[in-house]
Amino acid sequence: MTCRLTAIHADITTLKVDAIVNAANNSLLGGGGVDGAIHRAAGPELLTECRRLHGCSTGDAKITRGYRLYAAYVIHTVGPVWQEGRHGEPELLASCYRRCLEIAADHAIGRLAFPCISTGVHRFPAELAAEIAVATVRDTVRKYPLFHEITFCCFSDESTARYQRLLQTFSS
Ligand code: AR6
Repeated sequence: MTCRLTAIHADITTLKVDAIVNAANNSLLGGGGVDGAIHRAAGPELLTECRRLHGCSTGDAKITRGYRLYAAYVIHTVGPVWQEGRHGEPELLASCYRRCLEIAADHAIGRLAFPCISTGVHRFPAELAAEIAVATVRDTVRKYPLFHEITFCCFSDESTARYQRLLQTFSS
């Protein structure tokens, strides 16, 4: 089966997919941006489960249930803070996308949505982040035939247009 890669402009907490990805921080205890939105929508049980995970390294990911979300699971990943690209930030961002997909595959998750990890508070340049996201997801899903659809959930028209352009460029 081929996996469809799509980009949409939406609030990720509203998506009817099997799992959504959270752009979290090392504590996994909540924050602002998409992290705050996911915790608000999922309800306080999400924080209770996150407390049991004892944090997460940058570039890695951990899974919880989705509680009040439609999505059955949330995969929490920690993107790098952009520091002029001199601290392995591109590799760490690629690792976030890869680890989320590996964990999703372990849980037989077929439909997964990603936010634009690290491009808010963590200040990763949006164009480079999108290129890394699309290239890494395209490479990784080839190894896992169970994926049906991966959605890049963008939070602005500009970001959505960027992903749609990259997906067309990359489509084979
Ligand atoms: N749905 C989809 N995308 C969203 C939503 C939403 N509801 N809200 C924001 N975005 P950010 P980061 C977009 O800052 O840069 C938190 O405090 C946003 O426009 O949420 O990885 C964590 O606890 C941007 O494109 O995450 C960490 O401390 C993207 O999501 C830190 O921020 C990521 O922006 C993580 O920073």
